[in-house]
Amino acid sequence: MSSHDASIGRASVTFVLVSLCVLVGGASCPDEAAQSRVSRRTEDAGEVSVFFTGSELGALKPCGCSGGQLGGLSKRAAIFDRSPAAGRVIVDTGTLVAGTGEQDLIKFRILFEAFRLLAYDLVHLTDTDVQIARMLGLSAPQNGPFAVIGAPWEPDRKDLRAGFVKRLVGRDGEVGVRFVSVDAQKDRPQSAAELFARPGGEYGVNILILRNADAESRRIWAESAGADCLVVPSDSDEPRVLSEPGERPLTFAVARFGRYVSRLRVRFPGPGTEPALFLEDIPVEETLADDEALVNLYRQYQELVRRSELLEKYPRIPLPEGLEYVGSQACQQCHSYEHAAWSQKAHADAFATLVQVGSDRDPECVICHVIGMDRESGFISEQKTPHLKDVGCENCHGPGSEHVRSTGWTATTEPKMSCLDCHTPEHSSGYAGNEAEYLEKIKHWREP
Ligand code: HEC
Ligand code: HEC
Ligand code: HEC
Ligand code: HEC
Repeated sequence: MSSHDASIGRASVTFVLVSLCVLVGGASCPDEAAQSRVSRRTEDAGEVSVFFTGSELGALKPCGCSGGQLGGLSKRAAIFDRSPAAGRVIVDTGTLVAGTGEQDLIKFRILFEAFRLLAYDLVHLTDTDVQIARMLGLSAPQNGPFAVIGAPWEPDRKDLRAGFVKRLVGRDGEVGVRFVSVDAQKDRPQSAAELFARPGGEYGVNILILRNADAESRRIWAESAGADCLVVPSDSDEPRVLSEPGERPLTFAVARFGRYVSRLRVRFPGPGTEPALFLEDIPVEETLADDEALVNLYRQYQELVRRSELLEKYPRIPLPEGLEYVGSQACQQCHSYEHAAWSQKAHADAFATLVQVGSDRDPECVICHVIGMDRESGFISEQKTPHLKDVGCENCHGPGSEHVRSTGWTATTEPKMSCLDCHTPEHSSGYAGNEAEYLEKIKHWREP
């Protein structure tokens, strides 16, 4: 029996590899680093593990804006290596990116490359994933580094035979882990049940990945497909278990944004028995070791973003009433006290922070670390608009052109940003509850 019986086959990841290496001239392709990665730590060899990730929605790495953030592709290896390679299967359940823009496409390719470096066995693609794979010109030939199942590449095919099997070796013998992907709305549960039928006494775990499932269809599939485990689309930043304790199938959703890895531990009490399943949520914590190959891959991503000139192409809406941004320097001559005070604060270094971490050309970061990136007359790049880098006066007081022209007779106007526009829970975990201290720290005005 072949190691997989996917009708979809394996995606052409070769395309991804070639283009990455070509585009990032000079940067080394991290093949060797990946192969030399050794298992650092292993646990109970008697059980086998199925590792699930998915719903990355473009989150390759936490921004690092504040401490304690979960996630990051480079931390996953440290988690997978808790199981010996022969006793584990690594699966991504799909929904790789959040949209179909240029940056999403870059991320999609980076994620495929990450799956290869991390030795994924299986990648499950949703309808949107397949649409993007087609936009990228990926086809479905054989022998990729990982198997691909999920939504059909040809739009009108509704067949169910999108499955994958891996045989794992645990202390109790060999175990087959079978994955089947179905469209919860269009496919028929009976056909999945046929695929899942276990030959007499064989050890095995049947895992059904549902696409397009709502509560109702989830119930139907849980009752009739003969699966041990049901993976449903995720809708939360935390992993969620939807079945009752002890109930079959064990139904769960992975966490979004790669913040957790879900690990299904499987034990076999004896021949002919049902496998015992334990689900473990592993937070992808900051303190986990980084995998060098994946750290390098993120640098390649930053380089691709840089070369794609996404900042220049970012859509910008006009400011109201013909207003324009003039930059913090333009305020200095009349507000030298405030300017001097501001320039001592963290806000005045916000762009340098991005340069330090290599994300100064990434619109997803720049938007909160400069003045007016999404507005006409706002920040474009350090070269074109050096006066608008950093969090400046006009973020909080509004565009200053009219105020400056009238030498202060016209009050500063909208749009102004509030602290919360940037100090969100995700990007500034210490802000909520400490508003007064934060305000005290930026004090640049004279007492009345
Ligand atoms: C929603 C707005 C927002 C976005 C988007 C954002 N940042 Fe930040 N960033 C902040 C805020 C606010 C802080 C200050 C947090 C604090 O100290 O409470 C910060 C702080 C930082 C710091 C730490 C600075 C220090 O002195 O410790 C780094 C590094 C950073 N950001 C990098 C990034 C990167 C890289 C990205 C893109 C992946 C990004 N930021 C996207 C708002 C944002
Ligand atoms: C345009 C986005 C933005 C707005 C609006 C904003 N900040 Fe910030 N803030 C940042 C960024 C980015 C940083 C991190 C700067 C760095 O160190 O690189 C930061 C850092 C800070 C810090 C330093 C944190 C530390 O621990 O050193 C304080 C304090 C702060 N902001 C307070 C405020 C307050 C108060 C407001 C509202 C009056 C505000 N900020 C509005 C983006 C913003
Ligand atoms: C992070 C947001 C933020 C930034 C950046 C910022 N300010 Fe302010 N500014 C405030 C806040 C908040 C106050 C407090 C008074 C208020 O509520 O307007 C203030 C007060 C002032 C005042 C006194 C206003 C009054 O009514 O007396 C002046 C003048 C001023 N800022 C000028 C500047 C200048 C010039 C810069 C840039 C060099 C700057 N500010 C940067 C948020 C900011
Ligand atoms: C040509 C001189 C001049 C320049 C340049 C100037 N201001 Fe003012 N500004 C004034 C005067 C005059 C007042 C009113 C008296 C006062 O409060 O000091 C004022 C008041 C303010 C106030 C408080 C009242 C209000 O409108 O909210 C803020 C905030 C402010 N300025 C921000 C800025 C910012 C931001 C810039 C740069 C974009 C800037 N100013 C540039 C002269 C100037």
